[in-house]
Amino acid sequence: MQRRLFLKGLGLVGVATSLTSPGIAMAGGMLDPMQSRFAGALFYTMDAPGRWAGKEAGHVPMIERSGNMIEVTTGHEMDGYTHYIVKHILLDENLDFVAETMFNPETDAPISTYDITGMANALYAVSLCNKHDAWLNRLSL
Ligand SMILES: [Fe+2]
Repeated sequence: MQRRLFLKGLGLVGVATSLTSPGIAMAGGMLDPMQSRFAGALFYTMDAPGRWAGKEAGHVPMIERSGNMIEVTTGHEMDGYTHYIVKHILLDENLDFVAETMFNPETDAPISTYDITGMANALYAVSLCNKHDAWLNRLSL
């Protein structure tokens, strides 16, 4: 009861309820963001492009693994500062920050590489477009 009142005071009762509702996919004991209600709303995925439907191919970060390295690529144009991929972000299975790569749209392609030694179960890559927001993809390890 105390917890509920506390959450209500923060305006989080609806959020807490939705995060624990049956039928929402869990990964490693936590909510799988790819299957959450946030996909298609706060960020976008191949299966949940939300208001950016039709732009998936140019925004979803593609993740290729080779041993303990991954390469993240976004098939997006780099049209100077007009329209470009600002950065890639690598998150671990718990959505904790691991690394990021900033891009200069005048000289860089939206490709980054990371050493994933020590990471387990899954990782997430975020690609951030200056016009079309944040796109998430997941790789099982
Ligand atoms: Fe874009």
